[in-house]
Amino acid sequence: MSLATVETLEVMIGQPELQARIEALAHEIHDQYAGEELLLVGVLKGSFLFLADLCRHLGPNVTVDFVQVSSYGDRKESSGVVQIRKDLDINIEDRHVLLVEDIVDTGLTLQHLRELLAVRRPKSLRVVSLLSKPDARLHHTQIEWVGFEIENEFVVGYGLDYAERYRNLPFIAKLHQAE
Ligand code: IMP
Ligand code: MG
Repeated sequence: MSLATVETLEVMIGQPELQARIEALAHEIHDQYAGEELLLVGVLKGSFLFLADLCRHLGPNVTVDFVQVSSYGDRKESSGVVQIRKDLDINIEDRHVLLVEDIVDTGLTLQHLRELLAVRRPKSLRVVSLLSKPDARLHHTQIEWVGFEIENEFVVGYGLDYAERYRNLPFIAKLHQAE
């Protein structure tokens, strides 16, 4: 007989706190670029809600593109292999590029993406990540803006998934599993 796994959610960062922090990040980013054109590059799929909320506070000089990489499959642990599934549509040469990430865990994905985009000679390349797990870092890489530093625990919601579920939650939650 197989036992079903019961998943429960525990809210970690609620919707008002998330939205307030995103607005504050957007103000810092807006000041940094001071009216210059900015290309936001969302890392699919996890960043889609963060990018959507962030860009609404950034004013008119903003364009948006997406890239998709995968290293996780349906498991909670990284496979250690970063593959490009969808490349950018826009040529980033001589443009200010801001990579928009949902979470930096080991740092593998971000390190890979930074190298990949840097060779295309953008005018500048910076990173904003909604979440960061500093204690999980194996690959050290620069992150210019972090929304929240969190413990080394698996979280879902607000774009982040477990086996493609929970992305639509408007808050960040810890995922607990019991059999
Ligand atoms: P890294 O390459 O280990 O830094 O992992 C980055 C990617 O792994 C993120 O963009 C997420 O898609 C995924 N990831 C890492 N930690 C979590 C988590 O706690 N919940 C959901 N996805 C995660
Ligand atoms: Mg991701």
